[in-house]
Amino acid sequence: MYDFETPRLTFQFVSPRRIIMGENSIASLGQIVKSYKVGKALLVTDKVLRGLGALAPAVDSLELAGIDYDIYDDVEPNPTIANVESGIAMAKKDHFDIVIGIGGGSPLDVAKGISLMATNPGRVNDYLGMFLPVPEKPLPLILVPTTAGTGSELSFGAVFSDHEAHKKTQIYNYEVIPLVAFIDPIMMMGCPAKLTAASGFDALTHAVESYVTKNGNPYSEALAAQAIRLISKGLLPATKDGKNMKARTQMALGSTFAGMAMSASGLGINHAIAYPLTTHHNVPHGTANAVFMPYTMTYNAEEVPEKYANIAELMGLDVSGLSPKRASLKAIEEIIRFLKELDIPLNIKEFGIKEDELFGFAEIIIRDYVPLCMFNPRCMSPFDAYGLYLNALNEDHIWTTKLSD
Ligand SMILES: NC(=O)c1ccc[n+]([C@@H]2O[C@H](COP(=O)([O-])OP(=O)(O)OC[C@H]3O[C@@H](n4cnc5c(N)ncnc54)[C@H](O)[C@@H]3O)[C@@H](O)[C@H]2O)c1
Ligand SMILES: [Fe+2]
Repeated sequence: MYDFETPRLTFQFVSPRRIIMGENSIASLGQIVKSYKVGKALLVTDKVLRGLGALAPAVDSLELAGIDYDIYDDVEPNPTIANVESGIAMAKKDHFDIVIGIGGGSPLDVAKGISLMATNPGRVNDYLGMFLPVPEKPLPLILVPTTAGTGSELSFGAVFSDHEAHKKTQIYNYEVIPLVAFIDPIMMMGCPAKLTAASGFDALTHAVESYVTKNGNPYSEALAAQAIRLISKGLLPATKDGKNMKARTQMALGSTFAGMAMSASGLGINHAIAYPLTTHHNVPHGTANAVFMPYTMTYNAEEVPEKYANIAELMGLDVSGLSPKRASLKAIEEIIRFLKELDIPLNIKEFGIKEDELFGFAEIIIRDYVPLCMFNPRCMSPFDAYGLYLNALNEDHIWTTKLSD
């Protein structure tokens, strides 16, 4: 392993008060809710999951413990603030004591918004931004992810889409960290292959971006390293055979470590340049992240090749005798292998992206996603961002020249 200086030795780390992990851990949901001596629970989810019966293990446990509950299932993928507001209206009409979000990142983020706004004055818009004051304690929150994934169940972010302005907006606030996160691979078993691949790539991007950020610290670095190891092992088998419990567990653990790493360090330009694909072309968050990975890794590896050489080792690749740049190339080639095996395009033309949109995208990310860009290991100008988009549009195999010292 190449050694490098950990950038920050003063840092803070936040996480849910309890993380309950493991196969079938969801069976204890009812007893946990009961132990907090709360009355009625509001379950927040989406219609697809409800229709599939995916809530059954959670609902059975609540019923067994005699917990009264109601369900809000109007969450859309890439949820809007309107999605949250109708949930808040339901929460305010009846009396609820606890919010339980069950789903992918979308229901979990909406559950965060509902728990915050059920007790607080004003509107969701008043809390968008970085750590704005929250006058009242939110309703207690429990989050149960069904994808391995976004890491929302561990993070202090809640992400919403503004379809008219074509952008994502965020609440960043410690008050949206849940009391309990239940991470149970059983809840992820029904996740279809395409979603397993996309959300798994989201988690891998969290881990890689956390590992290389200038805002990293010893805690985030250790978590990101373990996440890279686990996800590199679990991603292909979990996608190919959704019933493979070992692979589902590797992905559940890996996305948990990645989510905690991301919370402790922040992310980077890969998330920033991926966002316009989601906001302008509805490409799923994880898929948008996946397609850019070879390009942003090449771009960053020119600046910090030692870190990408470490990533190659963490992915289980043999890099003995290779220079850091050559070793970085191995990591990129492995990502490309994952993309090909998982049928994720290597270029953005396949999503209907046209060249004349790209400069606009570059301007958007420099303007709207500063927190993602500012700690990236390489300072990205709008022209660099445009160049990265062009590379991804034309499937330009830049890595073969840039990293071949
Ligand atoms: N808060 C954070 O820290 C954070 C971090 C990253 C991403 N996000 C956000 O998360 C959202 C994306 O979340 P996601 O990728 O998990 O998907 P999602 O929640 O948007 O779900 C996508 C689709 O998959 C279905 N689905 C989910 N789990 C399933 C399962 N086990 N079986 C069958 N179908 C299932 C859903 O019903 C839905 O139709 C985006 O809005 C993104 O911005 C938030
Ligand atoms: Fe993400």
